[in-house]
Amino acid sequence: MSASDSAIGAEATVSRTVFLGRDAVRKSRPPKSYRLPELDRRIRSVRTRSEARLMREARRAGVRTPCVYDIDLADCSIVMERVVGPTAKEAIASDPERAPEIAARIGEAVARLHSAGICHGDLTTSNMIVLPDGEVCLIDFSMGCSKASLEEIGVDVRLLERAFGSAHAGMDEALESMMKAYFEGIPDADAVRKKLADIDNRGRYT
Ligand SMILES: Nc1ncnc2c1ncn2[C@@H]1O[C@H](COP(=O)(O)OP(=O)(O)OP(=O)(O)O)[C@@H](O)[C@H]1O
Ligand SMILES: [Mg+2]
Repeated sequence: MSASDSAIGAEATVSRTVFLGRDAVRKSRPPKSYRLPELDRRIRSVRTRSEARLMREARRAGVRTPCVYDIDLADCSIVMERVVGPTAKEAIASDPERAPEIAARIGEAVARLHSAGICHGDLTTSNMIVLPDGEVCLIDFSMGCSKASLEEIGVDVRLLERAFGSAHAGMDEALESMMKAYFEGIPDADAVRKKLADIDNRGRYT
């Protein structure tokens, strides 16, 4: 989070709070005036509910995600555990030598997520927090889905690769170690590789 203890993304506001004595953050989705009010309310409440549900499901599947403490559908906010650590983007930028190791932990976390049939929808290194023990905690599940199809999984992987490649240009070794850990961690690597080839071909000919 920024020095002001508040980070404002495209849609959400994240601020520090305390929940029953625990260090926490509140992620809220304020109304957007450019949307029709009824539609806006629906989008905000669907994203809030879906984000909290996916975080819980991922956690149950052994993926490190913030523990959800409370959800308030009236103001579309989630109160969750505050995970302490730099984002993967910050960690890699501040210590490039650790990039391959951090990247491998990212690959493992995403593999576990996909093995549980959950896709994330926004796998950038800003949506990952590196814990003191090196494990990677995934955050920001608002664009994700459960019961993901092979297509959805494939798109998630391509986005992960692209986001990593553009945020950390030139770190080919790290990118490779991320993908190696990912393919080692999923049950049917061949099916996903084939799907990625399909996605690439489609991009080339459409
Ligand atoms: N549980 C948490 N613990 C610590 N920091 C967090 C937590 N959740 C979010 N943050 C910080 O706030 C930033 C923004 O959070 P997040 O990525 O969830 O929202 P967003 O990108 O603004 O929202 P969205 O994409 O859903 O509109 C993160 O990059 C991270 O620095
Ligand atoms: Mg984010």
